[in-house]
Amino acid sequence: MSLADHKKNQQSLEARIYGLIDRMTIAEKIGQMSQVNIERNAITDQLSADLQNGHIGSVLNVIDVDLVNEMQRIAVEESRLGIPLLVGRDVIHGFKTVLPIPLGQAATFNPDIVRASARGAAEEAAACGVNWTFAPMIDISRDARWGRIAESFGEDPHLTNEMGIAMVRGFQDDDLAAPGSIAACAKHFVGYGASESGRDYSTTNIPENELHNVYMKPFKALTDAGVMTVMTSFSDLNGVPATGNEALLRGVLRGEWEFDGLVVSDYNSVIELTVHGLTENDKEAACQAVTAGVDMEMASNSYRVNLEDLVAEGRIATEMLDEMVANILRVKMRLGLFDNPYTDPTQYGRPASEALLETAKVAALQSVVLLQNRGNVLPLAAERLDSIAVIGPLADAPYEQLGTWIFDGDPELSVTGVGGIRDLVGASVDVRFAPALQTSRSRETDAFGEALRLVADSDVVVLFLGEEAILSGEAHCRADISLPGAQAELVRRVRELGKPVIAVILAGRPLVLSDIVDEVDAILYAWHPGAMGGAAIADLLFGAEAPSGKLPATFPRMVGQIPIYYNQKNTGKPGRASEITMIDDIELQAPQTSLGMTAFHLDAGVLPLFPFGHGLSYTEFKYENIELSANAIAPGDTLTISAEVTNVGEVAADEVVQLYVRDLVANVTRPVRELKAFRRVRIDPGQTITVDFVLHTDDLAFFGRDNRLIVEPGTFHVWIGGSSEADLREAFRVV
Ligand code: NOJ
Repeated sequence: MSLADHKKNQQSLEARIYGLIDRMTIAEKIGQMSQVNIERNAITDQLSADLQNGHIGSVLNVIDVDLVNEMQRIAVEESRLGIPLLVGRDVIHGFKTVLPIPLGQAATFNPDIVRASARGAAEEAAACGVNWTFAPMIDISRDARWGRIAESFGEDPHLTNEMGIAMVRGFQDDDLAAPGSIAACAKHFVGYGASESGRDYSTTNIPENELHNVYMKPFKALTDAGVMTVMTSFSDLNGVPATGNEALLRGVLRGEWEFDGLVVSDYNSVIELTVHGLTENDKEAACQAVTAGVDMEMASNSYRVNLEDLVAEGRIATEMLDEMVANILRVKMRLGLFDNPYTDPTQYGRPASEALLETAKVAALQSVVLLQNRGNVLPLAAERLDSIAVIGPLADAPYEQLGTWIFDGDPELSVTGVGGIRDLVGASVDVRFAPALQTSRSRETDAFGEALRLVADSDVVVLFLGEEAILSGEAHCRADISLPGAQAELVRRVRELGKPVIAVILAGRPLVLSDIVDEVDAILYAWHPGAMGGAAIADLLFGAEAPSGKLPATFPRMVGQIPIYYNQKNTGKPGRASEITMIDDIELQAPQTSLGMTAFHLDAGVLPLFPFGHGLSYTEFKYENIELSANAIAPGDTLTISAEVTNVGEVAADEVVQLYVRDLVANVTRPVRELKAFRRVRIDPGQTITVDFVLHTDDLAFFGRDNRLIVEPGTFHVWIGGSSEADLREAFRVV
């Protein structure tokens, strides 16, 4: 569409919106601003009356298509102005067909598979009448204790941007009004992931500069990419809870970024302003939230009860209300709901289509990270094995492998680890299974005996360890993130039998694996891989495909290292990689300075257990010949940076080539490295490919001392490699 046509469309859209608003009563306007949770799967008399009176603009948590259509019918045919409803649901990583958790999707470093996954989920959800999902969650997550890290794309702003945009495109597609498209929601604006000690909903204190350079970045990227809606955070940000934070919502989101979609509160977060101690009661909370710019209140009803009075008292201007209603109607119009509010399920294919299950399998395959592979114990050669012991509480747990946020997911679709292995090896290998522990948290070791007998009698053991779905997700945080229950003991007991030990870990977060890392030969980190997890894991175990996932978050050695992330600042006394655990060797009364006066923990050193971007393969990749198209560029220029990557091993495999940059000197300190680009490529054995990335100086911009975006002249280092520890480096200057 030409720019002129786009403008014309926009003008006629605005004319339609304001034409409608002119005809609305104040109660109808407030109705649009209210989202009601449907608790019972029925239309009560009250709900019906509210819909007829135009007192509800949106519902959430109804997925029965007949019920949704009936609600739409009442809203459209029986209300005075016939405004259709937004129907919201948390479609986070799948609907009926569950794909890997978002953190696992991030580990694919593959925006195409993330987009395809979201598209599949959108189509399944849209067939039930859902037209709005509360995803993607793009909160930067640097604390693995936080249960919602599972729902995030990890610790890095660039990766989060790319994955978030891909997910939005999957949900909204190019045509938001087309069947199967649903509105996406960038959440939670902003800083929610920085809750103190990783306790969900806790206070967040984030310096202004960090807020701009890290936490807000994905929100800016997604609003630029056309996300239709934004959800506010539950949390207190620097003393003002986000849902009552005018500077954030009206100042940054609307003012600076010109976001014209809808801002929704989180569930009850408007009335929680009072619990926070920001307001005295629900009425004041409603006043603050509206003033701040929260267009729609989710679940609680403080707008419906109080807004009319607040307008009558002159505390909320009608013009303000009109603008907020316009934001809501704009989304409804863009979704095409005024033209067709109804869902015809026959227009859609059946859920859990083969194509979507295949997407789920590819997503799972690419999400699994091979953390270590001592002696190349993996891949297993089925033809050389007689027997395999599959042990562990998560080897055959169809529900648990789906992970958090699976309201509508169907565990019957799950291929479990043991199922996937059996399907793959058929009758040729004797697959013996014992859970050993009832759940991941069990301390009861009575069943170890049977499991150990199977191990003793088998050629190799695959341990399915980790944590169940319920141990991560909203309000499910852990202070100790090592393997729960008696799992580490199980690993030690298995180890004693001297068989090759492979750990497959299913979890909603990076776990601290220090207890077991030396007790197992290989570790495949599978996150919660979704329905097709077991099939993907089997393919990886037996080398039908090589692992290619990369870590989207740093794995600490100890929980006390948190927050630990690769893109940290250098400090004035940077720790050295050589500074490792030394607490046992320190002499009594050693001089204070003798241990090195740098930023490290005596008992954990400076390094994580596994760094961001890490992930092994069944082959090795050699990086050479990094080249730049210029040594100096001016603001506005682009720079091409390339490197040769050779597959020096025996099997074809995907590699995620990553590019990191460091701005050496700036008016505010900059991270030691920042991911700026990445690409997943397929390389055959012996093949060398040249991977090039184009950087624009805008990619080097940062918020400086006055919190304005700038590109500063100076020297930059650039690395290309297979993890955040890449060492192939060049330098260039911005002049
Ligand atoms: C609360 C969560 O914080 C939010 O992410 C979610 O979308 C809403 N509940 C609705 O379920």
